[in-house]
Amino acid sequence: MKFFIDTANLEEIQEAESWGILDGVTTNPTLLSREEGNYKENLKKICEVVDGPVSGEVVSLEADGMVEEAREIAAIHDNMVVKIPITLEGLKAIKRLTAEGIKTNTTLVFSPLQALIAAKAGTTFVSPFVGRMDDIQSPGMDVVEKIVKIYDNYDFETEIIVASIRNPIHIVDAGIVGADICTIPYKVIKKLVSHPKTDEGIERFLQDWEKVEKQ
Ligand code: E4P
Repeated sequence: MKFFIDTANLEEIQEAESWGILDGVTTNPTLLSREEGNYKENLKKICEVVDGPVSGEVVSLEADGMVEEAREIAAIHDNMVVKIPITLEGLKAIKRLTAEGIKTNTTLVFSPLQALIAAKAGTTFVSPFVGRMDDIQSPGMDVVEKIVKIYDNYDFETEIIVASIRNPIHIVDAGIVGADICTIPYKVIKKLVSHPKTDEGIERFLQDWEKVEKQ
């Protein structure tokens, strides 16, 4: 499984990158709105830190506008991927961008059918939002499991990014159902190595080490 970080904050990205487990980054308009400075310059700096796909999102609602924005985002750096919402206009944009060789990440996906259609249009990545589904008592990982099965049945190359992750259990469950990628907020990714028995064990070893004769 690949790990992306779901943030536009450069310090968080640099810290996660230093752990050696980071494969890419996703941003969205909300995440970029939290950072100071020009968004294109911020995306470029992110691309210089992480050697992997970095998603930036269009905000146009019509295909022509989406394609125009997507070309600008793709021009920021070779690793840029363009997030397109799953709408009929979005499908037109995905088809045109795929033909141009621009990678897309179809976003705001909440059903297996949306994911199937996005894959047929040629999208590179698809992002089901598990947390937002869980929020309305509709189990998000069930949708991911169905997408994995459908893509396997027909050998689609589109990679599944489990998005809107809220806790470490989402990542375990994404691994069990066979999703390709998890995009994880900083506050969750930094918890992944934690276990109270690990902390307790370190504390005990340090205490016992005090009793060892060292000279
Ligand atoms: C990433 O691609 C998504 O934009 C993000 O995971 C959404 O997360 P949220 O539901 O916590 O806003």
